[in-house]
Amino acid sequence: MNANARNVSLWVKVLLGVVGAACVVMSMGQGCAPTPAPPPPAPEAGQYVGATVSTTETQGCQRCHSSHYNDWIGTHHSRALETLKAIGQGTNPACLGCHTVGYGEAGGFVDEASTGHLAGVQCESCHGPGREHVNNVDDSSKRPPTSIDSAVCGRCHNYHHATFDEWSSSLHELVEERTAGYFTEGRNLNSCGICHSGDFRDQKLVRGVETIPDTLLQGKAREEMSAVTCVVCHDPHRKTGNSANPDGGTEDAQLRYPEVAYPEQSNLIADTTNAARFNICGQCHHDRGAVWTATGRGSHHSIQANFYLGEMPLPNDNQTLLVPNTNSVHRFVPKQCATCHMHSDDADSGHRFEVNLNACSGIGCHPTAAAAQSDLQALHAEVQADLDEILTRLGPASTWEYTSAGGPSDQSQVSDEIKKIRFLYYWVANDLSLGAHNPEYARKILTDIKARLSNLNK
Ligand code: HEC
Ligand code: HEC
Ligand code: HEC
Ligand code: HEC
Ligand code: HEC
Ligand code: HEC
Ligand code: HEC
Ligand code: HEC
Repeated sequence: MNANARNVSLWVKVLLGVVGAACVVMSMGQGCAPTPAPPPPAPEAGQYVGATVSTTETQGCQRCHSSHYNDWIGTHHSRALETLKAIGQGTNPACLGCHTVGYGEAGGFVDEASTGHLAGVQCESCHGPGREHVNNVDDSSKRPPTSIDSAVCGRCHNYHHATFDEWSSSLHELVEERTAGYFTEGRNLNSCGICHSGDFRDQKLVRGVETIPDTLLQGKAREEMSAVTCVVCHDPHRKTGNSANPDGGTEDAQLRYPEVAYPEQSNLIADTTNAARFNICGQCHHDRGAVWTATGRGSHHSIQANFYLGEMPLPNDNQTLLVPNTNSVHRFVPKQCATCHMHSDDADSGHRFEVNLNACSGIGCHPTAAAAQSDLQALHAEVQADLDEILTRLGPASTWEYTSAGGPSDQSQVSDEIKKIRFLYYWVANDLSLGAHNPEYARKILTDIKARLSNLNK
């Protein structure tokens, strides 16, 4: 069957009511009121359809996906050609590939007069050509892919800024090695996936799937799994108002979670582990609930949001504070975590998530990046020295550690006071910033530990 004949036969199917059936399914579809049957597409009509319903293109995605369409129309993506035109580059072939749909491909954008319906970054820029789908809406094998792979975005987002390459160099690119091993074996996905697996988050949080089997990623290689990809943090479809500085919507960045959050400090496990209290990074960089009475292991390496906030979990039945909750001097930096870890400029999109000391001087707190550097080195040296001293004073691991770290298997040999000390030690160590997130809190904890050791004559 040649392409032309196939199109005609597809259109016969469409006219026989497939679209009507789809419209019942798509309860939100606004184009589903009875409309005159559209004419068959011209034989040369390309594989791209375009987002918008118009007289020339009645099958635009808008017709059935009006909710996504109405979201998308408000994003910078939809206006990407306008951006070029505003600087007199609207016909520059070097620019159109990423600022329109399918430029240079058969059936893609050519120029505004002939293919204006393919201007801007549209649905099909991420989902691929949709003609087969709109002609066969009931055929699930022809539905466009909904991949959460960063490569979907990286095709374009690696030009003015090397956003994709930067992200690829970060630990967010791959699922943490040990955890990936568990997922391959078909286990632990429900306990670790919410922070370690983009695939799990997509099912759970975007698709709203209630029960996800631990075997979802069974047999997959680490490289085939999604970790913290672009769409874990960014909503691909809409402006969200979650940016710290939305600036009337111009810097929205389509963040899924608030860039800044100021929760009340709490010492209840239900709160210290509750992602909803935290900012975008704290969705995963938060406590997992171990308290000082635990014997197996201390806090996870992910307590940054809690440490930054100046809180720690306590046993539910004993909320006596070990160390006072303490606000960080860094609490009010404008974008919180992103201020220091996602500093961007012409050369850098901030997507390595590495601390950039230019951020520290840029907002007027430390006079220069060099001054911030020496403050940081001094703090690191101070905190590291205290941590080393504490380990020495604690003595052999076999006498005081958690079972997972070489401590006694009979943990009743470890006194409550030592349990408090080791918990506090790891609270500082596992924050991984050596005090930077909340210097005063770190100092209070370390001072408290040393006093407790002295009381024990250690
Ligand atoms: C005539 C109606 C219709 C049109 C036009 C249409 N779709 Fe769909 N689309 C559907 C139906 C029905 C489904 C399956 C039900 C669902 O997933 O909501 C679907 C599913 C999808 C999915 C897969 C969703 C998933 O969960 O896997 C994507 C992606 C998609 N459409 C994108 C597009 C794009 C892009 C366009 C425009 C090029 C478009 N659709 C035009 C009806 C339509
Ligand atoms: C076809 C190329 C292309 C693809 C694919 C693409 N983008 Fe973009 N993106 C652009 C262009 C061009 C802009 C700038 C639009 C403008 O301001 O005119 C942009 C802007 C953005 C912005 C800035 C929004 C704002 O409010 O400042 C975000 C965030 C973004 N894209 C995220 C993504 C993500 C996430 C993906 C993958 C799911 C993606 N993009 C896929 C080309 C693309
Ligand atoms: C390989 C893909 C690609 C090409 C080619 C491309 N752009 Fe972009 N453009 C993007 C993306 C992605 C963004 C948004 C993210 C960013 O700025 O890194 C963007 C954003 C922009 C912005 C908005 C910047 C802002 O922050 O508001 C302008 C202006 C722009 N591009 C102009 C151009 C011009 C002019 C050309 C041709 C010389 C061009 N682009 C070629 C992908 C591309
Ligand atoms: C910047 C890339 C991008 C653009 C533009 C985009 N999508 Fe998507 N879309 C995705 C990704 C990635 C997913 C899967 C992850 C998710 O749902 O957040 C997705 C999921 C979907 C889904 C299935 C899940 C759901 O949310 O229902 C549908 C349907 C869909 N898109 C339709 C559209 C339509 C229609 C448009 C245009 C109006 C569009 N998309 C524009 C990237 C994009
Ligand atoms: C609340 C979110 C969260 C959960 C749940 C979680 N992790 Fe993590 N995990 C993280 C974050 C964030 C890091 C990165 C810490 C860093 O290095 O900055 C991390 C780091 C790690 C590391 C590397 C550092 C180390 O401790 O050696 C391993 C291994 C790990 N996690 C294993 C697991 C396993 C196994 C599970 C499930 C039993 C799990 N994690 C559950 C958030 C979480
Ligand atoms: C861990 C979360 C996270 C991941 C993963 C992530 N981003 Fe971002 N992104 C952010 C945050 C937060 C901002 C806002 C930074 C700021 O306010 O300075 C941002 C900003 C942006 C912007 C807007 C820049 C501007 O000037 O408006 C673009 C475009 C963008 N990201 C694209 C991407 C792409 C493409 C990927 C994947 C290769 C990606 N992001 C992965 C969190 C993330
Ligand atoms: C969806 C969960 C998730 C979100 C959201 C998230 N991260 Fe991560 N992050 C992780 C995991 C998991 C790792 C560890 C991966 C590994 O060890 O291989 C990690 C690693 C890191 C690391 C490297 C740690 C090291 O030991 O070198 C930094 C820095 C980081 N994240 C910062 C951020 C910042 C800043 C944000 C917010 C813009 C953020 N993360 C958002 C899950 C997340
Ligand atoms: C005031 C600046 C600042 C803020 C705000 C900040 N960090 Fe950090 N962070 C640092 C510094 C400095 C280090 C130590 C970096 C080093 O040793 O090179 C660090 C270390 C880390 C590490 C360990 C991995 C690494 O890169 O060394 C992670 C993970 C991390 N921060 C995540 C976060 C998260 C999540 C937030 C928000 C809750 C946050 N940070 C807020 C400055 C900051």
